[in-house]
Amino acid sequence: MRKMQQKLELPNGSILKNRLVMAPMTNKMSFYNGVVTSDELCYYAFRTGDVGMMITAAAYVKSEGKGWDGQLGASDDKHLLGLSKLAATMKQSGTKAILQIFHAGRRTNSKILHGIQPVSASAVASLEADAEIPQQVSTNEIEHLIEAFARATKRAIQAGFDGVEIHGANGYLLQQFYSPHANVRDDEWGGNRENRYRFIKMLVERVCETAKAESEQPFIVGYRFSPEEGQHPGITLDDTLYLVEQLLQQPVDYLHVSLAEFQSKASSSVNHQEKMIGAYLQEIVAERVPLIGVGGVKTMRDVETALETFDCIAIGRALLIDPRWAEKILADQEAMIRRELILIDRPVNYISNGALDFLTNRMA
Ligand SMILES: Cc1cc2nc3c(=O)[nH]c(=O)nc-3n(C[C@H](O)[C@H](O)[C@H](O)COP(=O)(O)O)c2cc1C
Repeated sequence: MRKMQQKLELPNGSILKNRLVMAPMTNKMSFYNGVVTSDELCYYAFRTGDVGMMITAAAYVKSEGKGWDGQLGASDDKHLLGLSKLAATMKQSGTKAILQIFHAGRRTNSKILHGIQPVSASAVASLEADAEIPQQVSTNEIEHLIEAFARATKRAIQAGFDGVEIHGANGYLLQQFYSPHANVRDDEWGGNRENRYRFIKMLVERVCETAKAESEQPFIVGYRFSPEEGQHPGITLDDTLYLVEQLLQQPVDYLHVSLAEFQSKASSSVNHQEKMIGAYLQEIVAERVPLIGVGGVKTMRDVETALETFDCIAIGRALLIDPRWAEKILADQEAMIRRELILIDRPVNYISNGALDFLTNRMA
């Protein structure tokens, strides 16, 4: 049996039926207020059933943390009914359904927030074009943010999801707290690495406690992170190895590294040039939890190479372009895979304008 077909038991006893994961992908298909649409349900229904685990698009946990129009919401009980439909849709043929929980922090703007200033660890704008200066959150507000993640976790449980993935990657709020670029606080939430990690520590603790207290079945808690930041100062691979070691002190069920290419090497650390980032991460993880890799997987050969390093591999764009990609790979029907995005097929495959924008920007 090929490794991709092998089951995987997570630390909490949940079993993934295989090693393929659908990566979290924003589709911008939700209503203006974050409620799931029927088209969005179809988009997931087309792609589920074959992968062992499917992760939703990032869902905001607080309205001030919304990152873009059309984003999925998990910030209010009004989202519950739609989230229940979404979980039921995703849980086909044993696929585990995971809700990705998110706060944009400084990576949003006052237009999307209808006049409200974005918040972050410190009042430092990101380096993106047109980035706004966020408002630094107070200690009191930090507690509210952590609570918002806990409440979104409770909603995920009530809706019937198998787990949540805490979005600590791609420059959003959790990463902003850990980043020496975004976090220049001089209180207990900033400064040295230990202090910059404190927000993540408290948040993961609360989410894991909520999962234990509110769910009758084992509920999966995963954590996604980006291993490096391009700017100086910025998160280095050394910082990330520390982060991973800290996260492993908590009852997380998997870690998920966000990479553009699964074989990427570090650009931030001269001491870590010999192997790829995934291999250094696995040295630290040391089989304590599964590590999911991602980035540029399109063929069976890519899957097999990736699974030499990672325990599971997430697939994003290939599954957008061909919703039956996983079925074809698992059935050894690789020649049948559609590899080009054919615009005329967009409606049948439920690729929205929003997903297309995201897709074309990222595929450039
Ligand atoms: C259309 C699109 C939307 C994405 N949205 C998210 C998201 O909501 N959350 C997230 O963590 N990553 C997001 N990503 C990143 C993917 O999860 C993945 O890491 C990236 O696409 C690389 O994998 P791939 O080469 O298989 O596409 C998105 C990527 C794409 C292409």
